[in-house]
Amino acid sequence: MTRTRIVVTGGSGFVGSHLIALLASQGFELLVPTRRLPRARHLLLLPGVTVIEADIFDRAALASILGDAHVLINLTGVLHSSAGKRGSPWGPQFERAHHALPALLAAACVEHGVSRLLHMSALGADAKGPSMYSRSKAAGEAAIRQQAGLSWTVFRPSVIFGPDDNFLNQFARLQKHFPVMPLGCAEARFQPVYVGDVVNAFALALGLPQTMAQVVELVGPEVFSLRELVRLAGIWSGHPRPIIGLPNWLARLQALMLEFLPGEPLMSRDNLDSMKVDNVGSSGQRPAWLPAPTAMDGIAPYYLSGAGRAASYERYRASSRS
Ligand SMILES: NC(=O)c1ccc[n+]([C@@H]2O[C@H](COP(=O)([O-])OP(=O)(O)OC[C@H]3O[C@@H](n4cnc5c(N)ncnc54)[C@H](OP(=O)(O)O)[C@@H]3O)[C@@H](O)[C@H]2O)c1
Repeated sequence: MTRTRIVVTGGSGFVGSHLIALLASQGFELLVPTRRLPRARHLLLLPGVTVIEADIFDRAALASILGDAHVLINLTGVLHSSAGKRGSPWGPQFERAHHALPALLAAACVEHGVSRLLHMSALGADAKGPSMYSRSKAAGEAAIRQQAGLSWTVFRPSVIFGPDDNFLNQFARLQKHFPVMPLGCAEARFQPVYVGDVVNAFALALGLPQTMAQVVELVGPEVFSLRELVRLAGIWSGHPRPIIGLPNWLARLQALMLEFLPGEPLMSRDNLDSMKVDNVGSSGQRPAWLPAPTAMDGIAPYYLSGAGRAASYERYRASSRS
């Protein structure tokens, strides 16, 4: 019997690594194109996974990547644009990753006979949203929904937590090294969702026709303010610090300075713009096919206390042996 062949773009990152591990354990054949092989090396341990270095914006490369695939899952995304690359309605980095790429992938799927596309967007994606991130995510969704001949599902998660997240771990690290936590948009609200629940939703959607042409919100069971999340990350990691809410002007100045530091900024002005609207589910109802979400306090204290790294390594080892 032919195994279902799935291409996962953006598969080398945080969500992708969890998704590939799950789908590999379920017997799918997976192809993960990446811009930099070393970033995706950990996936090579998994059964049925092929990783290739490729430019997914190149039509010829896409033709060969999608050639014999049945499904495409697109996780590609950027959280920040560089300080000098802001723009209206969004800058060139958001344009490339969040709008141009989904449009290109949707058209390429139809051209190469890949009829199923699962696309990762974000909660709060909105053409009139306050941030470049939310507006560009909405444009990517629209490009996919407008593509004729495609069975698509769009997922919109709130902020995602899990052992190797860049969110609670970041707040825990900062509190380890600094005596106080100055925080912009401290009262912004989130409904964090567990990465295991996110990737499970993708895996379930592969076999459920009722998920086609649906936009699926993925949220956790509880709503927290940013201040509460930072406080919990401090407590669970063993370094609770006083949190000082910053006025908007000072938060923007702080974000501007962080944008100019080398590497991924901890916070950008666009992140602050995103937080002008609450990042919570639009209705209290979840689709019948989606299992109940996992509570944060059942997972996060464990990995923030330092035990999580060993556990996630063990998980990869276990799935590569199965
Ligand atoms: N993490 C969250 O809390 C969260 C919340 C809501 C929505 N999301 C969405 O979920 C998706 C996955 O997030 P994540 O946290 O796993 O992100 P991540 O760890 O940063 O991974 C992002 C992936 O996107 C790829 N990528 C980024 N820019 C690219 C570009 N210009 N060209 C080609 N590939 C590019 C990277 O691939 P290579 O570097 O290997 O090429 C990487 O595998 C994103 O779309 C994100 O917007 C995440």
